[in-house]
Amino acid sequence: MTSSKTPVALLISGRGSNATALIRAAAQKDFPARICLVISNNPTALGLNVAQAEGIPTQVIDHRPFRKDRVAHEEAIQNALINAGAQVVCLAGYMRLLTDFLTQAWAGRMLNIHPSLLPSFPGLHTHERALKAGVRIHGCTVHLVTEIMDEGRILGQAAVPVFIHDTVESLAHRVLIQEHLLYPQVLRHFLTQHPPSLTGSSLLIA
Ligand code: GAR
Repeated sequence: MTSSKTPVALLISGRGSNATALIRAAAQKDFPARICLVISNNPTALGLNVAQAEGIPTQVIDHRPFRKDRVAHEEAIQNALINAGAQVVCLAGYMRLLTDFLTQAWAGRMLNIHPSLLPSFPGLHTHERALKAGVRIHGCTVHLVTEIMDEGRILGQAAVPVFIHDTVESLAHRVLIQEHLLYPQVLRHFLTQHPPSLTGSSLLIA
């Protein structure tokens, strides 16, 4: 049976709660994506268990045997993505910096979720930095991935208040709840407004 759903692959490194949110959304009949593969660079990523429990193919592509050869690691990822027939890739807590090799191969078709309101707080430790900066509003962003970290076109954002007595944990928890809502919503919109071309290697976003 052919499906009109777009095959989407997920890249994870750990807990996989955003991957879980996407997997659950994609299980809905009217959601425009089906998750065709979950790849982790970390063999012990908890997110792999969730995917397997849902019957989704998983693959561990550990970066460590590749040592410093990041491109060779990404070539292995690219082979897996192509074999799985992925048309769109969602980074969901994938904690490795990508080289131009993968970002260019998936230009316009690779999304990432970041735990801050970009362009504020790119990089790591976003909640700690938001608290230190004294911002009153914080949140998360889904954006297209480019060669520059956390810089691609913003596709959607969700904001939360920062309270006086917040800790890193309480703030992270508030943001994460929004991440789980935002990512499926943005992916749905992305696929229905800008369905990926079956033939082209990149997608133009109007
Ligand atoms: C999420 O908060 C995600 O936004 C963040 O890592 C966490 C992964 O959690 N991603 C980044 O910081 C990417 N730079 P999850 O594995 O439970 O989805």
